[in-house]
Amino acid sequence: SSIQSSHNSQADDAFLNELPRARFWDGMDICQWEGGWFEPGLIKPAMTFKTTFEAHNDDVLLVSPPKTGTTWLKALCLCITQNPSTENATETDDILVKENPHFNIQTIESMIYSTKPHPDLYSAPSPRLFHTHLPYKVLPDSIKNNSDCKIVYITRNPKDTIISLWHFFNSIFRPNLEPFPLEKAVECFCNGVHQYGPFFDHVLEYWLESQKRPNKILFLRYEELKRDPKGEVKKLASFLGKPFVNEEEVEKVLWRCSLERLRNLDVNKNGSILYGVPNSSYFRRGVVGDWKNYLSPELQEQINRTARSKFEGSSLDL
Ligand code: A3P
Repeated sequence: SSIQSSHNSQADDAFLNELPRARFWDGMDICQWEGGWFEPGLIKPAMTFKTTFEAHNDDVLLVSPPKTGTTWLKALCLCITQNPSTENATETDDILVKENPHFNIQTIESMIYSTKPHPDLYSAPSPRLFHTHLPYKVLPDSIKNNSDCKIVYITRNPKDTIISLWHFFNSIFRPNLEPFPLEKAVECFCNGVHQYGPFFDHVLEYWLESQKRPNKILFLRYEELKRDPKGEVKKLASFLGKPFVNEEEVEKVLWRCSLERLRNLDVNKNGSILYGVPNSSYFRRGVVGDWKNYLSPELQEQINRTARSKFEGSSLDL
């Protein structure tokens, strides 16, 4: 079975219609399922994934809340595991030159929005690399407990995440309109009523699990990757069982995956992987602390307060 041919029975539609609904920003309906908020169209694929996916021991699942460094992580993992540079490799041998990273590592539940046919999720050659934005709670048991499948999680400080989300959704949903009021966007974010929200619960669940099982789940932070890219990328490669053999390799991967390089590739300037989402929209400023340019002291405090109350009693600090 495949995620795309996700079942479509009346019983499922009835189930969907009964879920609590809310408005995200001023345009889109989102539904609450298993304690999280999702676009209605993604719930069935997520359920199919949860109930039918059979993990292999050498699978790697990448996970992230939206706008926390997904594109970067996908690019890095592709270079480390699928397409390492060889001595005389040319630009055209580079998987990142041919396609946007989101094409080669699909976001499982969003595959229904893909603009291009792609290989069947289940019959891809080993080692398989996938991505999801789904919370830990709704991952298939096969991934969590019944296989050696590894999970790499990336997250980012909440203030930069909300600013990145705000820019992204303004560009996708409101291209010719005034930006959505930032105070309202922060309100949605802090209430958890946004795609894959609440952000804070998402992060905390994976954090706690990574503390219990560090060999199963690698927990990365965007800020750490920016601060110590070599150290973090080495850690990632070792976790994936592909440690680098020399410093040159590390530098090569970092260069191949740099924002400046990816942004300027034709495939990212002109292409699109998901309907309505130009590849160029995945690349913006990529700096830590951009929130300082947007958030008033009141909005900063609102986010800090939410983070403190959610993370209280855990050793997590974002
Ligand atoms: P900003 O909006 O703060 O610039 P995601 O990939 O999860 O959608 O996250 C998007 C964020 O990652 C954006 O942040 C984007 O600029 C940044 N980004 C994308 N590619 C990157 C790369 N190769 N290196 C560093 N940051 C990158």
